[in-house]
Amino acid sequence: MNASLTVRTCSPEQTRALGREVGRRLWLGAVVGLEGDLGAGKTCFVKGLAVGLGLDGEEIASPTFTLIAEHYREGAALFHIDLYRLEGLGAEDMEELGLEEYLFGRGVSAVEWFRFLPADLLEEYLLVSIRFGPADARVITLTAYGGLYRGVIRQLGEHLSC
Ligand SMILES: Nc1ncnc2c1ncn2[C@@H]1O[C@H](COP(=O)(O)OP(=O)(O)OP(=O)(O)O)[C@@H](O)[C@H]1O
Ligand SMILES: [Mg+2]
Repeated sequence: MNASLTVRTCSPEQTRALGREVGRRLWLGAVVGLEGDLGAGKTCFVKGLAVGLGLDGEEIASPTFTLIAEHYREGAALFHIDLYRLEGLGAEDMEELGLEEYLFGRGVSAVEWFRFLPADLLEEYLLVSIRFGPADARVITLTAYGGLYRGVIRQLGEHLSC
């Protein structure tokens, strides 16, 4: 069974704060997949994630033509990957972009439109799924795929309940 946690946010600030709490609990090599329609708040979440990793959230942009942006600061590395224009990604594209080097590399990978990655490429990842609620509300479900991310979900649940 996959461990999961659903949180409702009411503003971009709250979504960033949730991302920050997740980022604080990750490690170099972690993979966070993000799902949600256009404008759901995936990039907003990644800005918070960056802060939680010790990076500058303002550096995180909604990439227009950049598929992969690398962010570094002492001991912290974030690979922000946006696959929006890569639906139907094949093995050749994967190779050309060097995607596996990021996903299996020494940094945190945050991947928007995660489902465009070939199925079964990864066994362990944290999936962040964002749905629209009324007005500025978002319903954000975090799911641990594989055993590694269960601790993150558990700690986050404990953090949010007190
Ligand atoms: N609760 C909320 N959480 C996150 N963003 C919110 C919220 N309420 C309003 N917003 C707004 O929604 C927008 C989210 O944009 P963002 O770029 O993060 O979406 P995205 O999912 O990355 O979209 P895309 O698929 O185009 O990359 C921002 O303009 C943000 O201010
Ligand atoms: Mg985005």
